[in-house]
Parts: sequence; C-alpha cells; structure tokens
Amino acid sequence: MATSSATTPVRVWDVPTRLFHWLLVGLFAYSWYSGETGDLERHQLSGIAAFGLLAFRLIWGFVGGSTARFARFVRGPRAVIAYLRGTGPATAGHNPLGGWSVVVLLLLLLAQVGTGLFAQDTDALYPGPLNSLVDYDTADRLAHFHHLIFKLLLLTVAIHVAAIAFYRLRGRNLILPMLTGADPAVDPAVEPLAPAGIVRFAIAAIAAAALAWWVSKGAPI
Ligand code: HEM
Ligand code: HEM
Repeated sequence: MATSSATTPVRVWDVPTRLFHWLLVGLFAYSWYSGETGDLERHQLSGIAAFGLLAFRLIWGFVGGSTARFARFVRGPRAVIAYLRGTGPATAGHNPLGGWSVVVLLLLLLAQVGTGLFAQDTDALYPGPLNSLVDYDTADRLAHFHHLIFKLLLLTVAIHVAAIAFYRLRGRNLILPMLTGADPAVDPAVEPLAPAGIVRFAIAAIAAAALAWWVSKGAPI
C-alpha cells in the first residue's frame, strides 16, 4: 500500500490535531496521577482542561483539516474488511480500522470527563462542577462509573499503544507523523491533508474554551 519517498513526505496531520493528541496524553497522565493521589483540586482543573480539549476535537472533527474529519475516517464494515484484506485504497490519515479505535477512545474519554463533572468524592469536598444538577445517589453512581470507565480507558489506551508498537515492529512509524505532521511512508500519489484555515481554528478553540469555562462554573443558565 505504501511506497517511500525520502524527498516529499506526504502531509497527513494538521497542527491542531497533533497538539490535541499530545496535550491529551499529558492531561490524561496528570488526571490519572491526581485522581489516584486524591489531589482533587488539581484533578478537577486537568479534567476540565481535558473536557475543553475534547470539545475542541469534536468541533474539529466537523470543520478541521481533511484527515481530522469524522466523515473521512469513520467508515463502514466493507471499508474495514477491505483494509484488513489489503485491498482498500491507500489514504492519508487514519485507516478504516484505526478510525474506529479513535471513535472508541473519544467516546470513553467523553464518558470519563462527563461522569467526572457530575461525580462527588467520598468526603463531598470536591464535587464536580455539575454535581448540584443531580441528586446524591445519581452523583454517587456516576462516581462509580467514573472509576469503572477509567479502567476501560486504561485497557483501550494499552491496546492503542500496543497497536502502534505493532506497526513499528512491521516497519511503519506512526509516531513520527503525529509529531511532524508528515509521513514518508505514504504513497506520494495519495491525496494529502487539506488543512483548515486559522480562522476556523480560532473559532473552534474559542468555542471549546468558552464551553469548558461555562461548565466549570456549574453551567449557569
Ligand atoms: C505515549 C503514548 C502514545 C503514543 C505513542 C500514541 C501515538 C498515537 C499515534 C501515532 C496516533 C495516530 C494513529 C494513526 O496514524 O492513525 C494516535 C492517535 C490517537 N491517540 Fe494516541 N498515543 C499515545 C497515547 C494516547 C493516549 C494516552 C490517548 C488517550 C487518553 C490517546 C488517544 C489518541 C487519539 C484520540 C487519537 C486520534 C487522534 C485524532 O484523530 O485526533 N493516545 N496516537
Ligand atoms: C481525562 C479525564 C479524567 C481522568 C483520566 C480521571 C481519572 C480519575 C481517577 C483515576 C480517579 C480516582 C479513582 C480511584 O480512586 O480509584 C478519579 C476520581 C475523581 N475524579 Fe476524575 N478523571 C478525569 C476527569 C474528571 C473530571 C472532568 C472531573 C470533574 C471536574 C473529575 C472528578 C473526579 C472526582 C470528583 C473523583 C473522586 C471520586 C471519588 O472519590 O469517588 N474527573 N478520576
């Protein structure tokens, strides 16, 4: 599927998608650490930042660069089977199987931050900012799901990293393109990333930040 060209690596990821990924890795690690050590004040801050980042990625999935768009990489079973058989067309960006792993990761992350926003800790000292919108038992159940979803998320992230290591062992480096934006392993004949403009980025970033701020204040109407 891929031939290499040392001179013109194909552009596959725009800057916002790369920034999203590595900021998410950092916030996920810090949220894990602060959650486990019970530093809930900082946990809430990193959790809300993760919420803002996810909100941005959802908007970017509709208005962002071509390879970041859901319509581009969320494909039906036929495309997935063709990819597994090695008969599908070569593309820049997520392959049809990888696209579904992105959907699962994003949904689990949304569930993680979503439950956290309503959850309460055992001492009820650091309730999530939306905690007052639900009754005590519901908040308690959501805190339980927050723990449970985290375990699922850890498993999914482990599979994600293992898949990337697997590709690396087969000679395909996916990490470098997520860092530099360009992939020397992609056939230069393949349609490259069509980036979105700075104005779209600014609008998406401001909308996501405003939503995170509003939620952090308890979503006043
Ligand atoms: C250090 C460990 C990690 C490495 C090396 C890594 C590497 C990568 C790479 C190479 C891709 C692009 C895959 C492709 O070419 O289709 C990717 C995508 C992705 N990764 Fe990771 N990842 C790591 C950790 C994580 C963690 C901890 C999370 C979530 C908590 C995560 C969530 C995602 C998501 C959501 C995408 C899709 C990016 C997008 O389209 O916005 N990754 N990762
Ligand atoms: C990337 C997102 C997040 C991750 C990875 C994460 C992870 C965790 C972890 C690992 C714990 C400790 C669980 C345990 O003790 O077994 C925890 C607890 C907690 N998290 Fe999060 N969390 C995230 C987002 C959020 C958000 C957005 C909020 C609210 C603003 C939040 C509120 C809480 C609360 C209140 C607890 C304490 C629950 C209890 O004591 O039962 N979390 N979280």
